[in-house]
Amino acid sequence: MKFKGYAYINTIGCQMNVYDSEKLAIILKSTGYEQTKDVDKADVVVCNTCSIRHKAEEKAFSFLGRFAKIKKRKPHMIIVMAGCVAQQEGKKAFKRAPHLDIILGTQAFARFGKYIDAVLSGKNRIVDIDDSDKIYETIFDVSRSNSSEHDTLPLKENKISRFVTIMQGCENFCTYCVVPYVRGKERSREPESIVKEILTLARSGVKEINLLGQNVNSYGQKEGQISFAKLLEQVNQIQGIERIRFATSHPKDLSMDLIYAIKDLDKVCNHLHLPVQSGSNTILKKMNRGYSIQTYIKRIYDLKQQCPDIGISTDIIVGFPYETKDDFKDTMNLLHEIRFDSIFAFAYSDRSSAPAAKFSNQIDEKEKLDRLNKLLELQEQYTKQKNLSLIGKTLEILVEGKSAKKHKGFDKSQNNLEQMSGRSACNKIVHFPSEHAKIGDLSNIQIKNAYTHSLWGYPTGVLN
Ligand code: 5AD
Ligand code: SF4
Repeated sequence: MKFKGYAYINTIGCQMNVYDSEKLAIILKSTGYEQTKDVDKADVVVCNTCSIRHKAEEKAFSFLGRFAKIKKRKPHMIIVMAGCVAQQEGKKAFKRAPHLDIILGTQAFARFGKYIDAVLSGKNRIVDIDDSDKIYETIFDVSRSNSSEHDTLPLKENKISRFVTIMQGCENFCTYCVVPYVRGKERSREPESIVKEILTLARSGVKEINLLGQNVNSYGQKEGQISFAKLLEQVNQIQGIERIRFATSHPKDLSMDLIYAIKDLDKVCNHLHLPVQSGSNTILKKMNRGYSIQTYIKRIYDLKQQCPDIGISTDIIVGFPYETKDDFKDTMNLLHEIRFDSIFAFAYSDRSSAPAAKFSNQIDEKEKLDRLNKLLELQEQYTKQKNLSLIGKTLEILVEGKSAKKHKGFDKSQNNLEQMSGRSACNKIVHFPSEHAKIGDLSNIQIKNAYTHSLWGYPTGVLN
């Protein structure tokens, strides 16, 4: 393909967007555009957007807004809004960003190349937010094997750990969430196509695979395909892949089969991200989560019984409409009870397309932030406690790169060593000095110090 120029991709939002951006880069490459880190050099600017919370949406408009002036100087520049905000806003986005050339909804990615060509031949203001099954083409069809691996990698991502989306969309309709409206119906990819993609990645040196879906526990159910536990078995057999992670799990669909898969499959990491959202049954019901807090706690106990050292993380929303001080207390109590390794906590953000926007008892913004801070403060203690309990233990670390900051314990005698960092199977970030460790190695590290966000230790030997 003839070189046409440079493309800059800005990815906002979740891991799935990171995966999708890589596919956009593959399409751009096959259309003649090389990726660049330097936005000033760009002939095509893409913002892959997120609409899960108000702040993310504003970030997208503010990033794209910068190019209104620049485009006056560089009229050939193609400006693209892709992803969830594009899907949600459609042509309304032109009101805030009249200089956009393409509005590419979440289910239009496979048609991106065609639109770039159309703009080059003089068409402007293309909008595709079609989500009808009839014309549905999938981003999964854009093959990673058609391009050289490293050219299309999102420029900030590391090369040994990669995302693979196994399903798209969601039909759970939690009342706060825009995903079912912007990402469409749940649909799972065929296992053969997933395995093929992972084989390609393994051949190019990838060691860790992170399987993505809004609710991986219901993988394949609608299509009558193999279960998620069975898919894990297949991925576990792929040579070269050392670790398998996955997200996100839904508590209502977490099966014993999956718990056994985590326990028995050697490459599946000892970590589960299981979003609870609230500790109060009243709020869980209003959120339409489909489980009670007692069920959630029971699942965690089943899990801990089978996998005693498992790392557990969760998502929590505070200040959901109707959340009383007592409801919030229930959430705080859940942190005492479960002692998560880490949490992602958010103040409820009202999204006009989600049903909760119509709920009457909205909580004051200041109160939401107050609750958020209280929750984060409490969790910080547990996160630190959990990390401290690892001192003296040896963890197997997948080396991801050099650490940015040297640890206090890194003394002069070690000055000839590099300080590297990576993750344990239970998802802790660990820094350590090492003479030999390379990116992609598995190293055994004995933990010496623990902090809230990381651990520090010494190698006991490089495993491979
Ligand atoms: N407001 C705040 N947080 C939200 N999330 C989803 N929708 C909203 C919203 N409207 C959070 C949930 C979800 C995570 C990805 O984002 O906790 O698990
Ligand atoms: Fe949103 Fe609920 Fe679906 Fe998760 S399960 S994507 S929170 S609707």
